[in-house]
Amino acid sequence: MSRIRIDHLAKRGGEASPLVALTAYDYTFARLAERAGVDILLVGDSLAQVVQGEDTTLPVTLEQMIYHARCVNRARERALLVVDLPFRAYKASPAQAFDSAARLMAEGGAEMVKLEGGGPMVETVAFLQERGIPVMGHLGLTPQAIHQLGGYRLQGRDPEAAEALLSDARALEQAGARALVLEAVPAALARRVSEALSIPVIGIGAGPDCDGQVLVLHDALGLGEEEIPRFAKSFMSGAESITGALAEFCGEVRAGTFPGADHRFD
Ligand code: KIV
Repeated sequence: MSRIRIDHLAKRGGEASPLVALTAYDYTFARLAERAGVDILLVGDSLAQVVQGEDTTLPVTLEQMIYHARCVNRARERALLVVDLPFRAYKASPAQAFDSAARLMAEGGAEMVKLEGGGPMVETVAFLQERGIPVMGHLGLTPQAIHQLGGYRLQGRDPEAAEALLSDARALEQAGARALVLEAVPAALARRVSEALSIPVIGIGAGPDCDGQVLVLHDALGLGEEEIPRFAKSFMSGAESITGALAEFCGEVRAGTFPGADHRFD
């Protein structure tokens, strides 16, 4: 079983099936996700909400991200390990982002870091990329900007917002981002972004026309007390085990049946 390396993160289409990414925060679930066959393990800052019970992703610290990345890294066999830069650890300057990203790699085992936003983050992406740190961008619904966005809602709905998002996506790619997460945007916009970029676009609530899909582990297993987001799906119903449910998630993404009509925004 060969390890997924960064240069495997190519555009999909043709023979290549969509990439499957899943968040993971600890050793046990990371192992189950590995057994199910995910391509990317993302230590998301959503851990603030699903592990720590916080209202937003904002409070999670760099130390905590490193701790969870180490736990996940110990379970790794094949998947690429991507770790989120937490809010307070990179927005101030490219140099701050470098210090934090370097710690996620050196201490947490990250092979790639993810950061949210376009605009000023473009310079940060170039700064990291030039210094040997592969970056995954994140546009659309960016939870670290929740107080600016005013809620967890669909982004890029009006033509102006859609053009701005497309231009941010191009700028991130130009700056050297190696992949992009697109969250909660209309399926048609995600398709435009995907077609415009030569790096893989990984969707969450972004419809089926992306190069891959990512879900939060707790949503994929229906673990929350509240209803899971409309774009997500619990793969536990009908499954005999957690590995079986996660394998079903992988299978449906690769077969192109998830996300279906009920899990997209038009
Ligand atoms: O933190 C996270 O879980 C994420 C996913 C929603 C992509 O960024």
